[in-house]
Amino acid sequence: MIKNILMEKLQNKNANVAVIGLGYVGLPLAIRYADVGYKVLGIDIDSEKLVKLNSGQTYIEHIPQEKIAAANAQGFTATDNFARIADTDAVILCLPTPLSKQREPNLSYIFKTMDAILPYLRKGQILSLQSTTYPGTTDEEIKPLLEKKGLRVGEDIFLVYSPEREDPGNMTYSTGNIPKICGGITDHCLDVGIALYAQVTNKVIGVSSTRTAEMTKLLENIHRAVNIGLVNELKILTDKMGIDIFEVVSAAATKPFGFVPYYPGPGIGGHCIPIDPFYLTWKAHEYGIHTRFIELAGEINNSMPQWVVHKFIDALNHQDKAIKNSKVLVLGLAYKKNVDDARESPAVRIMELLRKNKAIVAYSDPYFPTFPKMREHHFNLQSVALTKENLCNQDAVIITTPHDLFDFEFIKQHAKLIIDTRGVYRDGDPKIIRA
Ligand SMILES: NC(=O)c1ccc[n+]([C@@H]2O[C@H](COP(=O)([O-])OP(=O)(O)OC[C@H]3O[C@@H](n4cnc5c(N)ncnc54)[C@H](O)[C@@H]3O)[C@@H](O)[C@H]2O)c1
Repeated sequence: MIKNILMEKLQNKNANVAVIGLGYVGLPLAIRYADVGYKVLGIDIDSEKLVKLNSGQTYIEHIPQEKIAAANAQGFTATDNFARIADTDAVILCLPTPLSKQREPNLSYIFKTMDAILPYLRKGQILSLQSTTYPGTTDEEIKPLLEKKGLRVGEDIFLVYSPEREDPGNMTYSTGNIPKICGGITDHCLDVGIALYAQVTNKVIGVSSTRTAEMTKLLENIHRAVNIGLVNELKILTDKMGIDIFEVVSAAATKPFGFVPYYPGPGIGGHCIPIDPFYLTWKAHEYGIHTRFIELAGEINNSMPQWVVHKFIDALNHQDKAIKNSKVLVLGLAYKKNVDDARESPAVRIMELLRKNKAIVAYSDPYFPTFPKMREHHFNLQSVALTKENLCNQDAVIITTPHDLFDFEFIKQHAKLIIDTRGVYRDGDPKIIRA
């Protein structure tokens, strides 16, 4: 039976595994498969990444060079030749799923890849989608493509959805010890899916359908977006009331049950939290439902960069200064601390607002020596070294991302005015403004 042969190959690690999309999700996964003994083929369309990987180099800050070299030694190679899919047993899609300009799901990366691999998909393979998406994508969009080719899903080929829970830069949890959710189109699909993931994670949780698995991922991210929206709104209120929201959240977090701490900030960023909830909002319209919590959290979180800039303008006002021609140094481009990922980063939106108000903007971020290429933001800037002179020269610094590499005591000593969006400083120094 096709299923048993494939499961045996997966369980014995004789299966060849292909990971398509070697970014923040796909690369660590590919390395993990190589690590535990599978032969792994990485596929990406970015030729720079392919050259680096095949010569044992890394392009993601928290994935060390040695890990790539070790994977290469295990037979890991990277290619843009989709025909090589034919020689693999498992195909895992880790492709981007952004929003369009109209904030609708953009599944074009998945469709393009499906077009490229369909000629090479065959009986005896498992296809797993890991990209975050709305419930229904796997069975409404991917399954028909396989069936059109004459492959019977659950008999000839196995199709699952298994969401990604990667947390870049997290030193405690990575692919090997983050439990993995998996939903199959049929029970046979789920069995093969569990066999695919059981060797690389400590726990696989099978759920009743691909839709349940897709929805589970969205619930996790919506839960974060809504709770961050809540503390961001409370931050604005407590600021007016003269109460320290960071102290409040830390105090509430001492409750040993029924409370999960979320901390406010300058807004939300990254590939997930600002985007994924809106995949559900879009799909919900099909059912006549308006997802109010998602919209409200989005509205509040999106307004935070503007609020931070207002706090900065107020602080300058108190010093009889205008924002126009003021010199401001933004500390941290990345959307969260200790990572080299600036996608959707609120720091960049703050820079845009400052520039719009004619401030003279500079930034410092050890993870971005040069301002990164972005689809919608262009700054011809280089990271400024945090010297005494550079700090003294600014009218203010705005702490947007509290990287551990920043010396906050030194910054406090030399900056004239600090706008702290992350609760870095807990004392009441008058030159520090919470925002
Ligand atoms: N980054 C995270 O922390 C994270 C966490 C959980 C879930 N996710 C989800 O995982 C998915 C992937 O995210 P990511 O952060 O790894 O994205 P990424 O942009 O870092 O990586 C995607 C990779 O796919 C490649 N690619 C694009 N089109 C391709 C094609 N047609 N064929 C082959 N390769 C192609 C790109 O070159 C890139 O290397 C998204 O759906 C995201 O929402 C991401």
